[in-house]
Amino acid sequence: MLSKEYINKDIVILGLGYVGLPLALEFAKNNISTYGYDSDLIRINQLSEGIDKNEEIDKMDILSSKLKITSNPECITDSNIIIVTVPTPITDDYLPDLSLLMNASKLIGEKIALRKNKNNKPIIIFESTTYPGCTEDYCAPLIEKESGLISGKDFYLGYSPERTNFGDKEHSISNIVKVVSGQNDEILEIISSLYSHVAKEGVHKAKSIRIAESSKVIENIQRDLNIALFNELCMIFDRMNIPSSEVFKAASTKWNFNNYSPGLVGGHCVPVDPYYLTYKAQEFGFTPKTILSGRAVNESVPKFLFEKIIKTLSNVEKHNSNNILVLGQTFKPDVADLRNSKSIELCKLLVSSNYNIFINDIKNNYPFLDDAKYIDNIEDNKINFLAIVLAVPHKNYISQFSNLIGKIEKNGYVFDITGVLDNSKFQNQEINYWSM
Ligand SMILES: NC(=O)c1ccc[n+]([C@@H]2O[C@H](COP(=O)([O-])OP(=O)(O)OC[C@H]3O[C@@H](n4cnc5c(N)ncnc54)[C@H](O)[C@@H]3O)[C@@H](O)[C@H]2O)c1
Repeated sequence: MLSKEYINKDIVILGLGYVGLPLALEFAKNNISTYGYDSDLIRINQLSEGIDKNEEIDKMDILSSKLKITSNPECITDSNIIIVTVPTPITDDYLPDLSLLMNASKLIGEKIALRKNKNNKPIIIFESTTYPGCTEDYCAPLIEKESGLISGKDFYLGYSPERTNFGDKEHSISNIVKVVSGQNDEILEIISSLYSHVAKEGVHKAKSIRIAESSKVIENIQRDLNIALFNELCMIFDRMNIPSSEVFKAASTKWNFNNYSPGLVGGHCVPVDPYYLTYKAQEFGFTPKTILSGRAVNESVPKFLFEKIIKTLSNVEKHNSNNILVLGQTFKPDVADLRNSKSIELCKLLVSSNYNIFINDIKNNYPFLDDAKYIDNIEDNKINFLAIVLAVPHKNYISQFSNLIGKIEKNGYVFDITGVLDNSKFQNQEINYWSM
């Protein structure tokens, strides 16, 4: 019979990335015997020295942790609980790329087949974002095939979506409600109890694994669509020469108007997850219109900005240079993550123009595009710019932007994409200002 003692034995977090590492550290901090397993040897070696290349976790927090960091998958074999936090990207055709989930599921199947105590019935909890049904219909059969064991009899399934927001220190696993689900009521209780050790705000028990999977994917779809609406409104008002930020400010005085910031929607969650649901919906004979049109709007923002910048600058009559400085390359402010960054997409378009493109990122995290020049110390540099594009508003850019104003040519431009700068600073400076 299953019991809550499950939690007093070893657990494994499989995949120590943005999601897995903080989760594993949190379990270890709460005195749960935790292995952190990753197949990437470089990642394991770095973590063993306390280095998190994602810059999310401090060195001392890694080095002082009781977490057992390993590249040896044998830790899976006799563990009671295995939590899967591997990436779920999309293919070039915007379809779910389940290859990493597949490898993880096969590995788990292979290892649990070798467990010493055959009465040990491990619980395998997936955290990776996916479509409804993936855990039970895709992962479970792979585990069954590899292990010769039966889901719901020899091993059990659970799903608990990750919802923390990286770079956001206010919402970490310890202070958000965590959605949990299990294959049956007993498993759900064990999983709830496990996560209650780390999710101090509590857990929400979803009534099925499919419900939990669906809840995660719609969180990001809602965000994507809301931002898409604001991006589209910006495109409309820009044509009408009406400052959209002032429109949003006015509309926000209504009690039920929800304000969103327009901008570049990148990363591996918000622009990716909607395709998991639209893929599954299409399998059920339904083609989502709203979700996909929101996606199309957000995907079109780099091109909109590129055209806006080039057209605007072509109207500047007298200028000394063709230099444009783009600030920020990561997919969002104050993180080091370049995955699916729309600022990089904008830069790719800009380097195809006749302008000289200079790029800086405060995190010194660069994709190194051909034909772009990367500069680390802008203030020490003698180059002046016809325009500065604040693409990713890292906090330091905002606080130190006034130091860069002298680098902008007379009649030049500041393109403050997300409208974070104090516009009044540019008046009387013979510098033009534009934001979405
Ligand atoms: N990063 C976020 O902000 C975020 C937020 C919510 C949900 N998610 C979801 O969480 C999941 C993980 O995302 P992430 O950002 O942490 O990914 P990541 O790329 O940062 O980390 C994944 C880790 O898994 C490892 N890995 C891959 N296959 C493995 C295998 N077979 N065995 C062992 N290790 C393996 C990789 O080496 C890597 O270190 C995704 O489904 C993502 O959509 C991410």
